[in-house]
Amino acid sequence: MFTAIDHTGVAVADLEAAIAHYRDALKLPLVHRETVTEQGVEAVLFDIGDSHVELISPLGPQTAVARFLAKRGPGLHHVAYRVDDIEAALATLTEAGVRLLDATPRIGIRGSRVAFLHPASTGGVLTELVQPAAH
Ligand code: CO
Repeated sequence: MFTAIDHTGVAVADLEAAIAHYRDALKLPLVHRETVTEQGVEAVLFDIGDSHVELISPLGPQTAVARFLAKRGPGLHHVAYRVDDIEAALATLTEAGVRLLDATPRIGIRGSRVAFLHPASTGGVLTELVQPAAH
């Protein structure tokens, strides 16, 4: 069902400072930047092999990521598993009793389709499924 760790999502309060750190200190190539309105974030991707680090910063104080930052501060926000067929994956997980935050996929970064699982069902780890856009 899962084919790779697609990315780790890191919540940041200061996106420009975080970009500078990942690019200049960690030497990771920045490959994409996008406002993902549906998730209320400005997001950037850095390549690590076939996977990514995704930095996310909130578009406004009412967004989920702003609430996360207010409560827990900057840091690891979610882990994303790559799937070939997100509907099939959601059906399989529902069948297994896993709670979903998104019953149906929504649009994620770079035209991907994504859905989040409830952390109560994943040992406290906010987990995202990602079906990349077809190339
Ligand atoms: Co993500």
